[in-house]
Amino acid sequence: MRTPAVIVNYKVYTEVEGIRSLDLSEICQKVAEESGVSIGVCPPMVELSRVADAVDIPVFSQNVDPRKPGSGTGFTTPSLVKATGAFGSLINHSEHKQSAEDVGTCVGMCHELDLCTCVCADTTEIAADLARFSPAFIAVEPPELIGGDISVTTANPKVVSDTVEAVKAVDSNISVLCGAGVKTGEDVKAAIDLGASGVLLASGVVKSKEPETVIRDLIKYL
Ligand code: G3P
Repeated sequence: MRTPAVIVNYKVYTEVEGIRSLDLSEICQKVAEESGVSIGVCPPMVELSRVADAVDIPVFSQNVDPRKPGSGTGFTTPSLVKATGAFGSLINHSEHKQSAEDVGTCVGMCHELDLCTCVCADTTEIAADLARFSPAFIAVEPPELIGGDISVTTANPKVVSDTVEAVKAVDSNISVLCGAGVKTGEDVKAAIDLGASGVLLASGVVKSKEPETVIRDLIKYL
């Protein structure tokens, strides 16, 4: 996935239930195609296949479990994600945490299947630790700012620049994203100015009554 990147995590908001996940993904695809900006989407798990089938932009699973195919009711294996045609997966989102050991297993299993990995971390220290697994992306998201109206780039710019530095010191190939409260093009520009390769965001797009307008605003400086 090219950087700078904007990845929209749909979470499980009512606004993306059913066909509305595909509707939003088609809007993201339209803006990505018109602008040339790299925009990825993370639909809810039950909509992953429908969205991955229909759009050409990168589609990520919101989670993956460190499980092989077989008995494992209710789990999401990397193999199942691959079979949907998805591009990759979020791992260890703040709302769906895993042990560091499981994060490493998930990253390894995904990479064996050529699935892109975006590992989330609450803090710079956790990001630096998880960098040893060499995911494609690490997204730092202070949990207390998630879903709020103040962007991490305003509330805590240091966590962004520190995380870029700490992660790159472990593996310079990892692209660092930031998220939490990101809502505007100015927030995205600030992220890039702080050294990030893009943003991971949710409510600003998903809960908006005019998501296309918001997405166009988010990418206006890229
Ligand atoms: O995964 C993105 C997320 O946790 C940030 O959410 O609503 O603050 O953009 P939000």
